[in-house]
Amino acid sequence: MIKRTRILDALNSESPLEHILIKGWVRTRRDSKGFSFLDINDGSCLRNIQVFVEEGSPPYKTLKDVNTGSAVEVKGSLIESPGKGQKWEIRAGDLTLVGPAEPETYPLQKKRHSDEFLRTLAHLRPRTNKYGALFRIRSESSFAAHKFFRDQGFYYLHSPIITGSDCEGAGEMFRVTTLPASKINPETTGDVFEKDFFGREAGLTVSGQLEAELFACALGNVYTFGPTFRAENSNTPRHAAEFWMIEPEMAFADLNDNMDLGENLVKSMTIHVMENCQEDLELFARFVDKNLIHILETVIEKTYARISYTDAIDILRASGKTFEFPVDWGVDIQTEHERYLCEDYFKRPVIVYDYPKEIKSFYMRLNDDNKTVAAMDLLVPKIGELIGGSQREERYDVLERRMMENNMNFKDYWWYIDIRKFGSVPHAGFGLGFERFLMMVTGVSNIRDVIPFPRTPRHVEF
Ligand code: 4AD
Ligand code: MG
Repeated sequence: MIKRTRILDALNSESPLEHILIKGWVRTRRDSKGFSFLDINDGSCLRNIQVFVEEGSPPYKTLKDVNTGSAVEVKGSLIESPGKGQKWEIRAGDLTLVGPAEPETYPLQKKRHSDEFLRTLAHLRPRTNKYGALFRIRSESSFAAHKFFRDQGFYYLHSPIITGSDCEGAGEMFRVTTLPASKINPETTGDVFEKDFFGREAGLTVSGQLEAELFACALGNVYTFGPTFRAENSNTPRHAAEFWMIEPEMAFADLNDNMDLGENLVKSMTIHVMENCQEDLELFARFVDKNLIHILETVIEKTYARISYTDAIDILRASGKTFEFPVDWGVDIQTEHERYLCEDYFKRPVIVYDYPKEIKSFYMRLNDDNKTVAAMDLLVPKIGELIGGSQREERYDVLERRMMENNMNFKDYWWYIDIRKFGSVPHAGFGLGFERFLMMVTGVSNIRDVIPFPRTPRHVEF
């Protein structure tokens, strides 16, 4: 009986195996006098398996059409490799060319390609060592998040993608409409949308938080994990128009509980990746960031610094550094400031809390000083902001006032305010940018390279 075997399992085998079937793509073919070698990868791991084909054997006839990039099936036995560099190899008894690849036009050469070039080949880049490793790490990180929450008794909530309310209030929603473009211009008002699909303005969600709050106030602890969309026109290496966010929300919880949860989540996901993606991670530690393992050890071992926004501003002003964006109480902390705090001052992740209310969203709980809100950002080396969250305003009257100050339309949020009337409780949560997490664990410096098909201003190819 022939047994279909993943290359990962073959390479990790304890003993030789007879009658196995491998399916994958040819990375290289090397011809010598009397025999040839194929290196095959099936995406199950970073390593290729070497296939030995002897001249005169039945598979040798197929070999002439098998080139880099071709899809093949190999039947044979796993034997101890007489050559150096690998423990096992396959002696081919049968070789089928499933899908040929033209050697003249296959764009992935043996040499290393730049990330910029590979972005133009997003359909093929997962076949390279680096991107194969990256997307295996992405998959495992996603599992790590679900595992963390499940172990802690959180329920997974599927919040809607299409929404009528802008959670962050920043006006960065993509519009969802079935109206012809000619009906819509920047001045288009509500009346026009009465004839639209939903009978009112609708958009793609910027966050699942508002819905998560409602469910936290019913199921206790919940989290969302899904795609979110922002039409902010900022072309930075840290922003995408479509990105994935993990948003836990806890009932009967305050800002301190929130900070503990954020720190534990980041540590737990990082440990999981380090334990389960060792081989893939090594590639990044060797070729992308030599300092990667040191950073990750800091992330999992150190207690994160916790300082108020006011203290952070004092530290930045006393730093003697010239920042591109000058610091003053009341201005938003920029990436350069966040990185200074993590990398130079504290040399570990930092949680900054109690921000001025003017620079944060309407839903954050107003502190007794009437100037700051119970917000928190978790900052990590090289990235800056990884998590943004807060304790939520659970007091009906205060929330109403804050929404008025922000000129918000009550009609769009009636249900959000309403829940404050019936068994309102202190609650808190945050959003972790999943791509930012992946940038941190891999050392990759551009968000376009940690998401399968990046969507950024003027880019929606693939
Ligand atoms: O700080 P943000 O905007 O917070 C919220 O959306 C809250 N509603 C979350 C909550 O409390 N439930 O975004 C949260 C995180 C940021 O810290 C960042 O990591 C990531 O989401 N993020 C982005 N990642 C990639 N591209 C973008 N354009 C991002 N905007 C935010
Ligand atoms: Mg934020």
